Amino acid sequence: MISKSWGELQKMHRACRIVVDTLEVLARAAEPGVTTKELDRIARDQIAKAGARPAFLGYRGYPATLCISVNEEVVHGIPGDRRLQDGDVVGLDLGCVVDGFYGDAARTVGVGRVSDEARRLMSVTEEALHAGISMCRPGNRVGDIGHAVQRRAEAEGFSVVREFVGHGIGTSLHEDPQVPNYGPPGRRERLVPGMCLAIEPMVNAGRSDVRVLDDGWTAVTTDGSLSAHFELSVAIMPEGPWVLSEPCPYAAREAHA
Ligand code: MF3
Ligand code: CO
Repeated sequence: MISKSWGELQKMHRACRIVVDTLEVLARAAEPGVTTKELDRIARDQIAKAGARPAFLGYRGYPATLCISVNEEVVHGIPGDRRLQDGDVVGLDLGCVVDGFYGDAARTVGVGRVSDEARRLMSVTEEALHAGISMCRPGNRVGDIGHAVQRRAEAEGFSVVREFVGHGIGTSLHEDPQVPNYGPPGRRERLVPGMCLAIEPMVNAGRSDVRVLDDGWTAVTTDGSLSAHFELSVAIMPEGPWVLSEPCPYAAREAHA
């Protein structure tokens, strides 16, 4: 893990902004009848228009710009000819690169009318992400993040996925340290200013177990239960967390830019 300078954080901010703006466009486009390949195309076009490069395309052979994971799919679903249907729970995960710096984010949206259970799963997963982000301040440890995420998810009777974790991010998509969404507080690496972490809880309505399909990518819940995924890239600042897709909340910092 290498601490980023203010100038480097500006580049990450630009990359994260493009990712989150694109996810907003995709969330609106995720209507009954649209194919997942069409959403991938929108993502590719938006990223190109913004002057950025897709981060996932070609990563370890991944064949698309976007990961789309529907219902019991947890993460890394490959876009294709599947048409979204009323009631689907759709995870949209996207990354891009600006001037050599990566941004990575994900959100889960409902298509048309979704069940109360699905809505609760999505909001609890997003809350769990923000519980994790609130731990992102110097002096805390990586384990404090996972502990906060797990507590929030399990308090609602849901379970957190163990096989995939969040990660450091910067000049690579995945840097040290790993950021699990579970575990005891007070353990693992100490958080220091300039550290950037992609925090990404994957929360299942049923059991936590997942398996990967024969396509080598798509992870699904083994019990077939619904899964949701939210992700944001966050910088550890002296004052606390900076969600890199948002303006820096610490005014004094901006004045020094
Ligand atoms: N947000 C995911 C991650 O950080 C997406 C990676 S998809 C891949 O691992 F294709 F790039 F592997
Ligand atoms: Co990620």
